[in-house]
Amino acid sequence: MEKKEMLYEGKAKRVYSTAEQDQVIVEYKDDATAFNGEKKGQILEKGRLNAKISTIFFELLEENGIPTHLVKELTETEVLVKKLDIILVEVVVRNIATGSLAERLGLEEGVELNQPVLEFYYKDDQLGDPLINRYHIYAQQLATAEEIAEVEELALKINQILSGFLAERGIDLIDFKLEFGKDKNDQIYLADEISPDTCRFWDSETKKKLDKDRFRRNLGEVEAAYHEILERISG
Ligand code: TMP
Repeated sequence: MEKKEMLYEGKAKRVYSTAEQDQVIVEYKDDATAFNGEKKGQILEKGRLNAKISTIFFELLEENGIPTHLVKELTETEVLVKKLDIILVEVVVRNIATGSLAERLGLEEGVELNQPVLEFYYKDDQLGDPLINRYHIYAQQLATAEEIAEVEELALKINQILSGFLAERGIDLIDFKLEFGKDKNDQIYLADEISPDTCRFWDSETKKKLDKDRFRRNLGEVEAAYHEILERISG
């Protein structure tokens, strides 16, 4: 499958049209940003590593009954996916308090939550992806109540599947961000990516951070962390 024209360039990926009306090619870049693009950099080989890591997770989820946009891997950095209308609501699932939740609620980093916390953010770079709730979603018609119910159920199921898979590989799934999209028949699929850019992974024993927080917080060994995740989830 060949790329035709570039449809969209995001902070970490480019999207291209193909000869197939309902399929697009996603190309993963090495570019890294944080704090809504304020901090910019490159993570060597990130495009290749995230394309592979995300494909492994999407295949695992498909095997476990989650509909995803994945069609097939094309090259080391390119994946063929279903063309979807992305729902402009980012879904964050959290198992352990850290990041913006710890800050907002004054929780100590690393505190286990009594149940998973699910949050919605309005996907809008200019606004810095603000936290929203169902009332905002319905008032702004970002999604219907039925769609949100389905997205929530999928997100919690994805949390269970990924947490179990990762626990067997010595990794705690701390939190992660998901995006969903709809095809022309309004079928909902998991979209975007699942990678160290969009998840927090901690080593189960040492609690060492193995994700983009190493870049966000200038912790060093950024590339090594992405390699470590791919190595642990491969094979
Ligand atoms: P937060 O604690 O900064 O709100 O992040 C929650 C999770 O969402 C974390 O796993 C990182 C991920 N995330 C993204 O994928 N994109 C983003 O723009 C942000 C802010 C967080």
